[in-house]
Amino acid sequence: MLKEITQKFRELYSQEPTVFRSPGRVNLIGEHTDYNNGFVLPAAINKEIFFAIAPNATDIFRVHSFNLGESAEFILANVQPSDISWANYLLGVIAQLQKANYKVKGFDLVFGGNVPIGAGLSSSAAVECGIAFGLNEVFGFEIDKFALVKMAQKAEHEYAGVMCGIMDQFASMFGKKNHAIKLDCRSLEYEFYNFDMQDYRIVLCDTQVKHSLASSEYNTRRKECEAGVAILQQYYPEVQSLRDAKLDMLAQHQQEFDPVVYKRCTYIVSENNRVEAACADLEKGDMKSFGDRMYASHAGLQHDYEVSCPELDFLVVQAKQSADVLGARMMGGGFGGCTINLVKVDALTNFVQQMEKAYQQQFNVQLKTYIAEIVEGSSYAK
Ligand code: GLA
Repeated sequence: MLKEITQKFRELYSQEPTVFRSPGRVNLIGEHTDYNNGFVLPAAINKEIFFAIAPNATDIFRVHSFNLGESAEFILANVQPSDISWANYLLGVIAQLQKANYKVKGFDLVFGGNVPIGAGLSSSAAVECGIAFGLNEVFGFEIDKFALVKMAQKAEHEYAGVMCGIMDQFASMFGKKNHAIKLDCRSLEYEFYNFDMQDYRIVLCDTQVKHSLASSEYNTRRKECEAGVAILQQYYPEVQSLRDAKLDMLAQHQQEFDPVVYKRCTYIVSENNRVEAACADLEKGDMKSFGDRMYASHAGLQHDYEVSCPELDFLVVQAKQSADVLGARMMGGGFGGCTINLVKVDALTNFVQQMEKAYQQQFNVQLKTYIAEIVEGSSYAK
């Protein structure tokens, strides 16, 4: 892929590019906690996007999407959201750089990769982080990685209309080979946890249900959480976000909550607790207990946060029947995309076959599966 993209760049723009890469991500546990200032446990994976970039001595940004086979051009003096939806993730980052007074000169770009789109593996964050990282290097802006992550997140807010948290962009930029990242989304402190890939593998089962509901429901969930915080704040001024809330605070004031908002809040507070407990499991090497927390996370996402769908629920029920699976849950924003499964290495083939068969029988769809390796975050491509 790297070679093909470089070749395409030479063909289209007759010059030599510098090539960068930025990965998609998985999240082991801690779903919808990021925008509640809580904890998450993501990792960057070997599904990635390459960016071949070179300045072109004009005032124009010329771009070719390798996967779609489409090209476009934009005048840098007038960057705004475009009708070409795939270009918005790139334009959104350029706009952030410009807002922060960095001079983005004319450049050419060919980008493409193998992060499946709409599968909940954060292809959009990979695009945002890759362009941010690449332009920072090519133009020598010397922006630190935290600031790049925040610009990438802002690009998603302002050019894709999803009020996402910081997890996906952070994981894509800061990933570390064979490690999960425990990120405190309030302080942005992070810690790497060695992830034992000797005995287990992370298997993603892609429902292929595109999460079209995701952006509107996502923004609704965010508002519901804010509504919960507003109630708690009257009694506990220290509660700035659900990160600061405790289950007994919620229980104490349950009758003042709309029942839906109450369910949303209990899920978030419980999920935050689970991330901390899951990290303690990793430290002890207790993968069985880690897996149980993944199942508990799914139950909360299904019944209390209500961001799952029948296909995801089916895959989790199937996985749970196998003694070779330690844990499984839906991953990412929800309403489609993938489940993440923690599977014993020597049972991989069997697991994949069983899941494919069951999914075919139930939904008459060929299940897609990916075995994820944990890789480095955004970098120069080698
Ligand atoms: C999407 C968002 C993330 C996060 C997850 C849910 O992937 O982009 O910020 O909120 O959903 O955990």
